[in-house]
Amino acid sequence: MSDQVKYVLDEDQIPKAWYNLNADFPKPMPAVLHPGTHQPIGPSDLEPLFPMNLILQEVSTERYIEIPDPVRDVFRMWRPSPLIRARRLERLLDTPAKIYFKYEGVSPAGSHKPNTAVPQAWYNKEAGIKRLSTETGAGQWGSSLAFAGSLFGIDVTVFQVRVSYDQKPYRRALMETYGARCVASPSNETEAGRAVLAKDPNSPGSLGMAISEAVEIAAKDPGVKYALGSVLNHVMLHQTIIGEETIRQFELANDDPDVVIGCAGGGSNFAGLCFPYLGLQLRGGRSRRFIAVEPAACPTLTRGKYAYDFGDTAHLTPLMKMHTLGSTFMPPGFHAGGLRYHGMSAMVSHAYELGLIEARSYQQRGCFEAGVQFARAEGIVPAPESTHAVRCAIDEALRCKAEGKAETIVFNLSGHGHFDMQAYINFFEGKLVDLDYDEAALAQSLADLPNIAA
Ligand SMILES: Cc1ncc(COP(=O)(O)O)c(C=O)c1O
Repeated sequence: MSDQVKYVLDEDQIPKAWYNLNADFPKPMPAVLHPGTHQPIGPSDLEPLFPMNLILQEVSTERYIEIPDPVRDVFRMWRPSPLIRARRLERLLDTPAKIYFKYEGVSPAGSHKPNTAVPQAWYNKEAGIKRLSTETGAGQWGSSLAFAGSLFGIDVTVFQVRVSYDQKPYRRALMETYGARCVASPSNETEAGRAVLAKDPNSPGSLGMAISEAVEIAAKDPGVKYALGSVLNHVMLHQTIIGEETIRQFELANDDPDVVIGCAGGGSNFAGLCFPYLGLQLRGGRSRRFIAVEPAACPTLTRGKYAYDFGDTAHLTPLMKMHTLGSTFMPPGFHAGGLRYHGMSAMVSHAYELGLIEARSYQQRGCFEAGVQFARAEGIVPAPESTHAVRCAIDEALRCKAEGKAETIVFNLSGHGHFDMQAYINFFEGKLVDLDYDEAALAQSLADLPNIAA
């Protein structure tokens, strides 16, 4: 079967457990701190925002956590997702490298986000919760939680970052189709939103701001919990289903990746593919290269500081040690909305600090070029976020060509771009420009980081 393209697993091979990298880190992660006292928090401090079953996953150091059967049942709708060998792209690039991608765009919402939306909604339902609030940047996460909420009878309110709300009316329509309520952020519905609008009525919004609004709603109403689509440990955990499947699929392919790539906004699709492989390595297995790819206009890992910071603009969340551009940093309005976040998952940041993973940043035009090249060879139009991983995979394949090396590369194609065609139109019309962040604003927002001796 030397020409095989798709490596597919049966439904009964959907993994039965998520993998937790916290069991294998050579050094434990820094504590999460209370925003007021700066003391380490305990599970009960998180209770206003999350149900206890998810909090226990957030702090767990168990290596494997069982995926509940009702969650696996929902996963049957699209999982296991295919691992695809990009043979046409390989030929086009004339590279000796083998390029594979794990395609997460087959989910109902079109990305990896339902992998955590479904368990989060299910655990909330188990805890008796009937309403969830959340934010969305690209619209992928909001659609995913809206979808998951509709499965389990939970009302979902989504604060959608203003630029994305204006640019992507069809994403909003999708969320409403699933029954969610969608509000442009900053909004007049929260103190955090009103404070921003008072200063700048035309604020384009940011993920950090939308998080503040969604958190505020949950913190004030005991009947509402908050759900986050990335960054937190339990989200990284849920996404490891991607890598667990990929490991089995490479056995079918009789191959093994040397380079593992994912784009990184809050870190979850990157972690989902990489962490199970990183775990194998930390338990004595072979080493591989892991590359997190971020936008040059919001370069959290490559340019941010490893420091304690808030997850949101209004400083309502606990303090996490992570790579951050500062919670007041306002990234320019480039097209990969899901990568426009000032911070990075504490787990991904910790792995980066320990030298276990690499990071790289790209400007958006080169990413769209790669996305178009990929679409013309492989047929799938990548989400703007995912084009960052495509760019990196192509560059790695070209490096292999220059060095005459037949390495195996795998990247996470985290989503399709069917709701992002305006970005592609802008690209074709030459209107897509490479954007740089404001150096002075970055220096200021880093200077404003909370002062914590740790
Ligand atoms: C398709 C897609 N890929 C990647 C991301 C980035 O998020 P994360 O880094 O958590 O995977 C998003 C976020 O919205 C997304 O929609």
